[in-house]
Order: sequence, then C-alpha cells, then structure tokens
Amino acid sequence: MTIIQNDAPLKMKVTARVAGLIIGIIMAALPWYVGGPHAVQHPESFWNCLITGLLMMGIAVWALVRKRAYWPGWAFLVLAAWTVVSPDTLSFQIAEMTIAHLIVGAAGIVVAIVWIRRALGRLPKDRPVVRGRTFTECSSTERTLYGLVLVILGVGYLMALSYLYMTHEGLSGKPGLTVQDIAISYYGNRSGTKLEAMLRGPMQGFAPQGDRDQIIAWLKSGASESGYDKTIHPIIERDCARCHSSKSGLKLPDFTTYSSIQQVAKVNTGMSLLTLVKLSHIHLFGIGLVAFVLGYVFTFTALPVWFKNAVIATPFVAIAMDIATWYLTKWDPIYAYTVVVSGVALGAAWGIQIIVSMYQVVFLRVDESRSPN
Ligand code: HEC
Repeated sequence: MTIIQNDAPLKMKVTARVAGLIIGIIMAALPWYVGGPHAVQHPESFWNCLITGLLMMGIAVWALVRKRAYWPGWAFLVLAAWTVVSPDTLSFQIAEMTIAHLIVGAAGIVVAIVWIRRALGRLPKDRPVVRGRTFTECSSTERTLYGLVLVILGVGYLMALSYLYMTHEGLSGKPGLTVQDIAISYYGNRSGTKLEAMLRGPMQGFAPQGDRDQIIAWLKSGASESGYDKTIHPIIERDCARCHSSKSGLKLPDFTTYSSIQQVAKVNTGMSLLTLVKLSHIHLFGIGLVAFVLGYVFTFTALPVWFKNAVIATPFVAIAMDIATWYLTKWDPIYAYTVVVSGVALGAAWGIQIIVSMYQVVFLRVDESRSPN
C-alpha cells in the first residue's frame, strides 16, 4: 500500500502517540493498582486490562518507530472503545474499576481522534475529491428500489427484535427482558442444582467450607466427569458416603459414582458451543449483508460525512462485538452487559439509517447546489 504524502517534509507531532503510550502503561498497570484481591477474584478482568494495555503500548511504540504507519490510530481507537464498553466497566462491580476505565477509555478516544486527524492531515490537500451521490441524483427507479428494501428490512428487524424478546424474556423469572435473561441464555443457570441447594442448606454441616466451595466450583464449571473423578469423588467419600452410598444401608441417593450424582448435579450451562457456532455464522452472513444493504442506501443521504461514516461503521463493530461476547458470556455471565450494549448500538445505528434514508428517499427535493457527499 502506498501512502500519499505531501511534498513538504514530514513534521508530524508525536504528542498523540506519546500520550497513547502513557495511556497504555496506565491501563496495563491498572489491575495491579486496583486491589490485588480483585485480580485474583476476577482473573478475566485482570487479563483484559493487562492485554489491552500491552496492545496499546505496542501500537504506540510501533507508531513512534514507523512514523508513516497509518493504521495505528484506528487500532488505538478500537482498544480505547473496548476499554469503555468492556465488562469491567459495565458490570459496575468495582466502582473504582469502572471509573478508572471510563477515564482511561475516554482519554484514549480523544487521543485516537487527534492521532487520526494528524494522519489524515498528511494527505495532500489537492487530491481529487470524489463527491458521492445523494438521493436527489438517483434515478426514480433506484429510489423505488431503495424505499422498498428499507421497508422490508425495517419490518424484518422489528420481527427479529420480537423473536429475541419472546425467546429470552422471563428466563430469570422476572417479567420483561433483563440482562439476567441474556446471561442465562448463554451461561445457563448454574446455581439451580439440587446439590448446590442442599449443600447451602440442610447438608451444610456435613462438609467443611473448603469442600463445599470445591463442589460448588465444580458445579459452576459444568460438572464434568473428569472433575468428579479428580476432586469431587474423594470429598464425597470423606464427607457424604457414610449416608449417600449403597453401602450405608440408608435409602438415600448414592453419590459415589458420577452417573448417580448426575441426578442432583445437572447444570444448565446455557447454549452449547455447537449452537453458538451455528448462530454465529448465520448472524455474520445475514446481519453482515443487511448491514451492507442498509449502509449502502444510507450513503445516499445528505448529511455530514463524518456522521455518515460513524453510522455506517457502527453496525459492523456492533455485530463483531455482539458475537464475540456471546462466547465470553458463556464463560462469564458478566459479559451479558456487553451483549446488551452492542445490541443497543446496532439498533440505534439501524434506526437512524432506516428512518433518515426513508425520509430523504421520499422527501428530498432536487437541489443541485446543496448536496454534500
Ligand atoms: C448423616 C447422614 C448424611 C450425610 C453425612 C449427608 N447427607 Fe445428604 N441427605 C441425608 C438425608 C437423611 C437426606 C434426605 C432428607 C432431606 O432431603 O433433607 C439427604 C439428602 C441429600 C440430598 C437431596 C437428595 C435428593 O435427591 O432429594 C442431597 C443433594 C444431599 N443430601 C447431599 C449431600 C452431600 C453433598 C453430602 C456431603 C457433603 C451429604 N449430603 C451428607 C443425610 C446425609
């Protein structure tokens, strides 16, 4: 790829990239500052901060060394945006974590924008400007086609929303669609087993705290057979088998084998990986194409270019984030918040695209003098 340069010697200020480096360092240091115990309890947020920070530092250093590199500004913007919408920020579990992330993320976004503007400023001023068409310059047949596709896709999106509502609503037992419902769809409801209920209740006295914690951790991780053989079986033998085994002579369920404990240890681990992969590829193809069609029609609207760019890019970012966070939610239910944020971003962008395009397709008068691209 060639980068078009000005004839003037390159005098790009380094402030934005140095600021980017500092932000990266702060981000990477954050998990150690905000309480050691926090890092131990939430290893995923620890790694999230650390990896994001290291990537930010790497990008800034790369841009300082390779002065002409054009993409680092955008890459930095993505990381800063992730800092703002990551589960650590949105879960509000640790107030100082949320605040720190919001400050660091916002600063990162500002730095990235300054950075990108500088990089763009290096493009020659006299490069040919390609003016995009607006609806006024489209033929009437094109406008008919665009209007109709907007109606069909708009109704399709409303149907998709209703379907989503009907399939997810009320899973947590509360009316309406809540973040908890989303978490249950992907992560499952792992506290709902009889074994956990009994361990927290009437059987509490039979096992010391450490053993109980281990059994509950095993349930939450999906109650696997290998886990049973390795850690759970010895605990059962030690604490429970004198009553819960065929040898005890009592008419109680036997827990000394994996198959027999399953009766009380069946956990709902949410959507299977296979279902997720199936849904992901259908969504990526389907939503990707819808985003293309809606975005394409939206390019004909008469609006400021920066705004159009942002509204066109949002659905693509949102789909990628949404699907990535399904998998993360399966791993940790905190990420249900990020699923919600990306869903809202997608809805907002498509809402703007459909409504504004529809309005302009119908009402935009031919006005040659006023048609920005
Ligand atoms: C002193 C005997 C005794 C010991 C030890 C004991 N239990 Fe129980 N357990 C019982 C009795 C009696 C019941 C049935 C009465 C009830 O449901 O409260 C029962 C019921 C249960 C049930 C419900 C079974 C069902 O299908 O209804 C679970 C689960 C359970 N125990 C788990 C445990 C675990 C785990 C341990 C070991 C940490 C344990 N128990 C140790 C006596 C015992």
